[in-house]
Amino acid sequence: MDQIHPDVERILFSEHDLKACVARMGQQITQDYAGQSLFVVSVLRGAAIFMADLVREIKLPLEMDYMAVSSYGDGVKTSGVVRVLKDLTDDIKGRHVLIVEDVLDSGLTLRYLMDHLALRDPASIAVATLLHKNVPNQADVNCRYIGFECPDEFIVGYGLDYAQRYRNLPYIGVLKPEIYSSVEA
Ligand code: PRP
Repeated sequence: MDQIHPDVERILFSEHDLKACVARMGQQITQDYAGQSLFVVSVLRGAAIFMADLVREIKLPLEMDYMAVSSYGDGVKTSGVVRVLKDLTDDIKGRHVLIVEDVLDSGLTLRYLMDHLALRDPASIAVATLLHKNVPNQADVNCRYIGFECPDEFIVGYGLDYAQRYRNLPYIGVLKPEIYSSVEA
């Protein structure tokens, strides 16, 4: 049983749920890409934990690389214009690229990344997202692998942060409203 952090209202996905989900997704990816090698891209920083666990469940030769991006916006709403802070180290031409994300929210980050990476002539691009939020006006992103459908709540843990904290919680939980409302006041 996970020990709940005092700032967390309730656990949405337990450590056990996450482990089972990642194992299932890894098996599916292993099956789908049988006989091929993968180029797995993680978007820093939130997806790093999910990627680290997922690649250990993929029984195929693979390369890992990382991108860092920041969204231009007003701090509340992203504009959809993404600036690349750290690009991939290696060339993806002719490679089967799998973008690993922790959460698809507005979808603007993934939409931009897919368009941006498609210009580099990979053999294929697919997305594996741990969480898929159901939000209105989401950008059109085709996620080949989705871990969980997720309510539109303030979630933290397993890579997801609030003000850079809580990423190291082993589960995903809903943050107590007083934690973020007290800082905003
Ligand atoms: C989060 C998440 C995705 C993005 C999804 O990153 O890791 O990259 O937001 O949101 P979208 O679908 O609305 O574009 P964030 O910018 O919070 O940075 P982080 O990964 O460093 O936490």
